[in-house]
Amino acid sequence: MTVARFGRPHRHLRRTGSTNERARELAESGAPSGTVVTADEQSAGRGRRGRAWSAPPGKALLYSALLRPLDERHSLLPLAVPLAVCDAVEAVAPVGCHVKWPNDVWVEERKIAGVLIEARPPDWAVIGIGINVAIEPEEFPPELRWPATSVGHGATAAALLGALNDALSEWIERPPTATLADFRKRDALLGREVSWEGAGHGAGVARGADERGNLVVETVEGERVALGSGEVTLRVGA
Ligand code: BTN
Repeated sequence: MTVARFGRPHRHLRRTGSTNERARELAESGAPSGTVVTADEQSAGRGRRGRAWSAPPGKALLYSALLRPLDERHSLLPLAVPLAVCDAVEAVAPVGCHVKWPNDVWVEERKIAGVLIEARPPDWAVIGIGINVAIEPEEFPPELRWPATSVGHGATAAALLGALNDALSEWIERPPTATLADFRKRDALLGREVSWEGAGHGAGVARGADERGNLVVETVEGERVALGSGEVTLRVGA
C-alpha cells in the first residue's frame, strides 16, 4: 500500500532535537505512511553528509514525512522530493525554483530548501525537508558553504505545510518518466561546469540525470561519468 495523502496524521512539536529522528521513532513503532512531524525549532537538526541544519525558531518549515513501504516505484524519490518542494514553494510565492542535484532547491542561484531522506528499505523512508521561509540574511550561519535565502514574499510555514503535503502526495504517485522530465526542466546544473570528489575526483560539464537519478558529467576527454549522490561531494564551477 502506498500513501494516499501526506499530513494525516500530523504531529507538531514546539521544540525537538530533529523531526527526522522523531519520525524515525514513529516509523519504528508502526506509524502509518503519510505521518508528518513538524517543529518550530530543532536543537539537533540534521543535514546531508553529517552536517547540522539550523534555523531560527518559527522562521523555517521543519518537516519530516513517513513513507512506507518502499518499492521500485520509489527509486527516484531523491529527485521527486525536491520537485515537490519546488511546486509547493511556487504555490505560495511568486518565485521560480530549480533543483541543484541531488536535492537542494534554489531560487536565483541561492538555496532555499534542503532534503535529507533517511530510509530502512524496504520498510520505510523518512523524508526530511527544511525550507527557509522568512530567515533574514544576517540570521544564516556564516559558515554556510553556499549562500542561502528564504522564500519571503509574506509566505508562512502554515501555507507551505499545506502546499507541501499536497505536492508530495502527488509526486509520490508520479511515474519515473514524469520525474525525469520535470527534473530536466528544473535542473540548475545542466550545461554547467562541476567538479566532484569522494569516489574518485574529476571535473566536467553536467549533462542531466540518468534513469537511476545519477548525475551524468561529461569530462574534457569526452567520457560520460555517472555520479551517485551518496558517493560524491559536488562543487559548481571546476
Ligand atoms: C541539507 O540540505 O543538508 C538537508 C537539510 C534537511 C533539513 C531538514 S529540517 C527537517 C528535517 N529534520 C532534520 O533533522 N533534518 C531535516
